[in-house]
Amino acid sequence: SFLKGIILNGPPGVTLQLMMAVGTAVIGSLQFGYNTGVINAPQKIIEGFLNDTWNNRYSEPIPATSLTTLWSISVAIFSVGGIFGSFSVGLFVNRLGRRNSMLIANVLAFIAAGFMGFSKLAASWEMLIIGRFIVGLYSGLSTGFVPMYVGEIAPTSLRGALGTLHQLGIVIGILMAQVFGMESIMGNSTMWPFLLGLTFIPAVLQCILLPFCPESPRFLLINCNEELKAREVLEKLRGTEEVGADMQEMKEEARQMMREKKVTILELFRSPLYRQPIFIAIMLQLSQQLSGINAVFYYSTRIFEKAGVSQPVYATIGAGVVNTAFTVVSLFVVERAGRRSLHLTGLLGMAFSAVLMTVAMALLDQLPWMSYVSIVAIFSFVAFFEIGPGPIPWFIVAELFSQGPRPSAFAVAGFSNWSANFIVGMTFQYVEQLCGPYVFIIFTVLLLGFFVFTYFMVPETKGRSFDEIAAGFRHDAGEAGEKYAPDEMNIDCL
Ligand code: GLC
Repeated sequence: SFLKGIILNGPPGVTLQLMMAVGTAVIGSLQFGYNTGVINAPQKIIEGFLNDTWNNRYSEPIPATSLTTLWSISVAIFSVGGIFGSFSVGLFVNRLGRRNSMLIANVLAFIAAGFMGFSKLAASWEMLIIGRFIVGLYSGLSTGFVPMYVGEIAPTSLRGALGTLHQLGIVIGILMAQVFGMESIMGNSTMWPFLLGLTFIPAVLQCILLPFCPESPRFLLINCNEELKAREVLEKLRGTEEVGADMQEMKEEARQMMREKKVTILELFRSPLYRQPIFIAIMLQLSQQLSGINAVFYYSTRIFEKAGVSQPVYATIGAGVVNTAFTVVSLFVVERAGRRSLHLTGLLGMAFSAVLMTVAMALLDQLPWMSYVSIVAIFSFVAFFEIGPGPIPWFIVAELFSQGPRPSAFAVAGFSNWSANFIVGMTFQYVEQLCGPYVFIIFTVLLLGFFVFTYFMVPETKGRSFDEIAAGFRHDAGEAGEKYAPDEMNIDCL
């Protein structure tokens, strides 16, 4: 009858309310993914626009270096927006609450859509770049808001699976962008402004749905001290009136928090209580980005072209499909296999794939069929990424910290992630010009380094409550941690 229950009602704990709330939140993730992937396939077309505009302004074709620079800026300014956005997460979530922060951020998506959508009409690459920056701001905020909200409303036993839905939103967004970006759909010289402007549609959808979603019960109870409201929301989310255990756990966290004064970003690094988890959170973010994944998602069309693939755009879409499929795999195994082992498997598999890619690129001149090997290599690189390094770093931040330090932790983690994202996006093309086929060796070395780090430093968080996880770190910090027990209570919501 247990099995029958699962088939009829879904896994225990999954209610309609919960899925609706998570589903609406991850529209923000979809936006992030869409704008990550949208610039890849139509590179040549938009470069044509840059060239035409340059030609009109200066009556000469654009020099190759200026083109590379303008293009790299248009790609990478997105992550600069992301850096600022993610770092500002803490300014919003405690004052406005988690849900309303997500709602308000959509203003940015609308403005960005306008800038990008009208850049061609205005013959202005400046507008394109500004629009990319603003949608980066939005995406940066989303990478904090969404995993935080999802982590806080999820039951402990589903935190990893639901947390992975953030990544699933991202990869579906990337895939949609790749498909829409095909020449026959919108990746052509007339339609590309629509392709970029399309980002306003998910924003409309989220604005309609969010008002029907509840505020995070943890926020209501721990930050606002609204016990009744918190219980009400929790009963709806869990689909039962028996939420005593959850309430108890949150109260325990609140009690702990009464002893924590407001945890600023600086204190995250100073306090022995938080130093270890914040270091782990940062390293996991770096492992995600410095794996080189976005070299693929920003530039795969070019990479495939160089590797001699005859239909590079289709190979890019193939990478998007593999990407989505393996995120789904991770979704189903993460609560069984745990975070640690999946992250380790992913990193090692990626390192192996990067070596394969290097071999394929290096031998291409002698052996033309190596172009097929390069496709296999990129697909397996992406697949292993989604097994662990894709989804886990995002949601583990919510797990590594309790309510007090969580917003600051998300700001620091997001900042690390996006900065590394920026560095890869901005430098990959130059480094590739320097290293030729050996460019993926750099990622191999980094991947192996992160494997070792994860092996020795990252604890398993599966199935443990926030409070238990925090207690583990308190224990590790030993006496120094116990001494750090400031005494101010803070109620900070409006
Ligand atoms: C992760 C990364 C993002 C990347 C994506 C690829 O979400 O944060 O930068 O583009 O995975 O699937």
